[in-house]
Amino acid sequence: MLYKSLILPILQLINPEVSHFIAEKFFQFPFNKVINPVSYRSKLDGLQTNVLGIKLDSPIGLAAGYDKNCKVLDQLLELQFGFVTGGTITLQERFGNPRPRLHHVPKEKSIINSLGFPSQGLEKINKKLLENPQNGIFLSVSGINEDEIISCIETLEDKTKVFEVNISSPNTSGLRLFHNPSELSKLVEKIKSVSKNKILVKLPPWLESNKNEYLDLGKIAIMSGADGLVIANSLPVNSEKLAVGKGGKSGRVLTNNTPRMIAEVRSYVGPDPVIVACGGIFDAKDVWNSLAMGADLCQGYTGFIYEGLFYAYNINKGLLRLMKENNIDSIDKIKGKSIL
Ligand SMILES: Cc1cc2nc3c(=O)[nH]c(=O)nc-3n(C[C@H](O)[C@H](O)[C@H](O)COP(=O)(O)O)c2cc1C
Repeated sequence: MLYKSLILPILQLINPEVSHFIAEKFFQFPFNKVINPVSYRSKLDGLQTNVLGIKLDSPIGLAAGYDKNCKVLDQLLELQFGFVTGGTITLQERFGNPRPRLHHVPKEKSIINSLGFPSQGLEKINKKLLENPQNGIFLSVSGINEDEIISCIETLEDKTKVFEVNISSPNTSGLRLFHNPSELSKLVEKIKSVSKNKILVKLPPWLESNKNEYLDLGKIAIMSGADGLVIANSLPVNSEKLAVGKGGKSGRVLTNNTPRMIAEVRSYVGPDPVIVACGGIFDAKDVWNSLAMGADLCQGYTGFIYEGLFYAYNINKGLLRLMKENNIDSIDKIKGKSIL
């Protein structure tokens, strides 16, 4: 309540990149646990799930892009996320696109960004990450050619059990290389030959009109050895609020599109590959709807910005309530239920 009525409106008066910086400092503050209200809530039980051979405490995760330089992954995990995705990590240090490049639209609970992968680069980020980390630490990597991505994977091999390979940021034109089926297939095969970790490929979102192109990409990724797909990245849009004139839109505007894409991709790739739903997930009902349509996990970014520190906690609480109302005793049994 305090977050939405007081803190969020103040943060929204500030430049979004500055408010992100303040949030990061909050998590880095040595006594953050003492002043973090979520740390006084006991961990919610009953949402455990085993995905990719890994036990996670909840199906809701934090999507890539929030902690690009992996400074506060453990602190974020303590907010009762089942997993958090660090990165996207790139080989070289990058400064991203010119500003303004981040724009909040509170009335539609969305964010438009054209950040273009600002990153401290692999070497610096690698030093911050622990070997054999907790189960819920996933890492997102990307690059504009195969060698860049492979270098990230090889270097970070012991720093996670799950890599998310981002071929879908709308703000980095070089990534379109991997929308070519044979390039994507070569990339995934190469990754599998150098890594024993689980590999998820993150696709761009699609509309009814262009679904075949993206469903085919998803199938090629799986046939080439990927363990699963993240559906999906932000939606490419034009915006005069951004210095470069275009970017990716995230948030509530994506909520209805996500379960539809999940149903389409699940029926296309079959029951086995892991599918992580991403786009407009704000509450327990959104998570339920994507799991019902065939997702194994969900992740959110914009929902966390608008809902605040209790984002994952409230989703977990809501999911337990929905499961009770529907006489379900495990997360896996939501698959195939009707949407709410
Ligand atoms: C400011 C911002 C930065 C992002 N950076 C990344 C990124 O570095 N890598 C990535 O794979 N996705 C990135 N994303 C996309 C999100 O991970 C997510 O796919 C997208 O926002 C849709 O989910 P949402 O509606 O829950 O935000 C970013 C999104 C936002 C809003």
